[in-house]
This record gives sequence, C-alpha cells and structure tokens, in this order.
Amino acid sequence: MGRLAVGLIGAGKHGRRYTHHIRADVPELALAALCRRDAVRGREQARALGCRFHDDWAALIADPAVEAVIAVVPPTLHPALAAAVAAARKPLLIEKPLAPTAAAAREMVRVLGAAGVPVLMAHTLRWNTVVRAIRERLPSLGPLRALYLNQRFEPSSLAWLDDPRTAGGGIILHTGVHSFDLVRWLTGHEVARVWCRVACVDTARTEDNFVAVLELEGSDALVAVNGSRSTAGRSGLIDVAAAGGQLVGDHALGFAYGGAHPAPAHGAGADRARGAARLRPPRPERRPASGHARGRGARGADRGGVPKSRGLAQRRLARARDLEGSPVPLLTPTLAPR
Ligand SMILES: NC(=O)c1ccc[n+]([C@@H]2O[C@H](COP(=O)([O-])OP(=O)(O)OC[C@H]3O[C@@H](n4cnc5c(N)ncnc54)[C@H](OP(=O)(O)O)[C@@H]3O)[C@@H](O)[C@H]2O)c1
Repeated sequence: MGRLAVGLIGAGKHGRRYTHHIRADVPELALAALCRRDAVRGREQARALGCRFHDDWAALIADPAVEAVIAVVPPTLHPALAAAVAAARKPLLIEKPLAPTAAAAREMVRVLGAAGVPVLMAHTLRWNTVVRAIRERLPSLGPLRALYLNQRFEPSSLAWLDDPRTAGGGIILHTGVHSFDLVRWLTGHEVARVWCRVACVDTARTEDNFVAVLELEGSDALVAVNGSRSTAGRSGLIDVAAAGGQLVGDHALGFAYGGAHPAPAHGAGADRARGAARLRPPRPERRPASGHARGRGARGADRGGVPKSRGLAQRRLARARDLEGSPVPLLTPTLAPR
C-alpha cells in the first residue's frame, strides 16, 4: 500500500510532535510538505525532513503533491484554512479548538460536510489509556451521580495564547475543550447549561483559570470542570461517582482506580461492609533510587535496615495484598502516561 502524502501546517510546540509521529509512528504516512510563518527556519526544517516548504498555507493546501492536510496552528486561522481544504477536497486532521466561536465552528462543519471530505478533530484525550479504561467501566456502575474533571498546567510560554486576536480565547477555549469533550464522551449526554467563574493569574487579556458547573441534557448528575494554567506541574483528574461505585484516575499522571461497590448491606455489620468498599487511594510510587540514594540504601542494609530496592518491592507487595483483600478491583495499577 502506498503512503498517504500529508502536508503539515504549523511546526511549533505541537506541530513538531506531528513531524515525529509521521516519521516514527505511522508508517502509512509520508510528510510531503511543511508550512510555517518563519520561512528561514521552515526551509531548514523541510530540508532536514526531506519535504517541500511553503511559506503560505494556501499554497500548501493547493500543492498537488499534498493528498491530506494536518493543521496545527492558532485556531483563528481555522475557518479560512478549512474553507480552502474543503475547496481542494482533501482530508483534514485539525487541532483543537475547532474555531474561536461556536458560530465559526458550525460554519466550518457545514463547509467541510458539504465537501464530503474526511475530517478528524484532534481530541487526543479520547485515545488516552486512563480515559479509555474509565469509559469502558462506567456503564457497569449504573446511573451517574457526579463527575469532576480538571486539567492543570504550568503557565504557558506562548505569547499568542494571551492575545485574543490570535488565540480567540483563554484556557476555557484552549484546554477546557478537552474536558468538555470528555464530559460528552464519557457520559453520552450533551450539555444543556453552564455556570462558570474565571480568573486571570499569570495572563493579562485572557483567562488562565476557570471552574464550570455543567447541567447535562437527560441526566441529573452533578458535573464540574476545572482548568488552571498557573501552577507547577501537570495533572488531569477524572473523578466519577455512580450509583454502583466510583472511579478515579488521572490521564496526565497515568493511574486509574475504582470499580463496583458491593450491594449496600443492611442491619448489623452494614457500616463495616460499607467501610470495606471504600476506595483505596493510590500510594505514591518511589522513583528508582539514584546513585546517592542507592548508597544510603546500602548503608541502611549494613545497619540491619532494608535496602531501597527491597523496600520498594515490599511496599508494592503490601499494596497488592491490600488490594487483594478489598472488594474494589484495581483497574490499572500503573498505566503509562500519554
Ligand atoms: N491536542 C493537544 O493535546 C494539543 C496540544 C498542544 C497544542 N495543541 C493545539 O495546536 C495548535 C498549535 O499550538 P502550539 O502549541 O504548537 O503553538 P506554537 O508553538 O505557537 O505553534 C504554532 C505554529 O503555527 C504556525 N503559524 C502561525 N500562524 C501561521 C500562518 N499564518 N501560516 C502558517 N503557519 C502559521 C507558527 O509558525 P512560526 O513558528 O513560523 O511562527 C508555528 O509553527 C493550537 O491550536 C493548540 O491548541 C493541541
């Protein structure tokens, strides 16, 4: 089978990941052309990648050597870019957020739909192993009572993200879309109403923190989404409460725990039975010992202590024993982060 020749528009932080995936992970694809604003760096990059360079995205879309387009640029470019892709009738993989406004998004869907070209929105979290594990088990837990999602990041180094003319919005648009998509994908319900509070902590013109309460169509579950780009480190909590059990995971840190609780007990011993069904939180895993720590571990062993590596193995065993005795199954002990 021949490889599909793709043209990549955007070679920034995320675009560079695509160049890697095309070359290293997806043998069905070949990089035919690259486009970015910085023509000097773009030409150099294209030479290194062995593909053509265009300093104008419209020229890349029109290039006969390009069979399909991947767009990894600020979303204010998306409406014009999608119209050109539709006119050229080429398949499109487009990054989130689809558009800066709902009206622009609807128009893009109409134009691309009318052209009949395959389009994929890069809601990458749908392929995350923790998200998939939770989605798989959710239906077995009965009616949903509550869902809480958050995504947290360090402040962004991209200046355009705080410029509404280029970014189209703040963290609600750029990161919130991942969680809003997950609410729909995990629950199968559309969102009817939203209440939201925002804050600008490290940004001046766009919000970088928000918390939103969502009302779902056809479900009385309490749903909340929180996003922050003003903290150290990253996390992506998913916390689910359903009538028959709970699930908790983190798609950035790579764990998921929980499962069905036993049917509620009645009479004597009921409280004990309920206590036994409580979720056990994951215990922090120690990093492999560094040279320094290994030294201390060995000294500990000399003094009759437990060497670090054995200590870690014992803690893992203890955790496994804890879980064995629990009626709550462990879903995914240590899923690899994205
Ligand atoms: N799905 C995910 O998990 C995920 C993660 C990160 C980002 N994203 C999305 O990916 C998009 C890009 O983000 P990023 O972090 O890669 O930003 P970035 O590092 O600033 O990269 C943006 C790229 O777009 C290019 N560009 C801007 N205007 C252009 C124009 N008129 N013509 C051609 N190229 C143009 C820039 O070219 P120059 O560098 O030459 O200026 C740059 O290469 C955003 O929509 C973001 O939301 C998605």
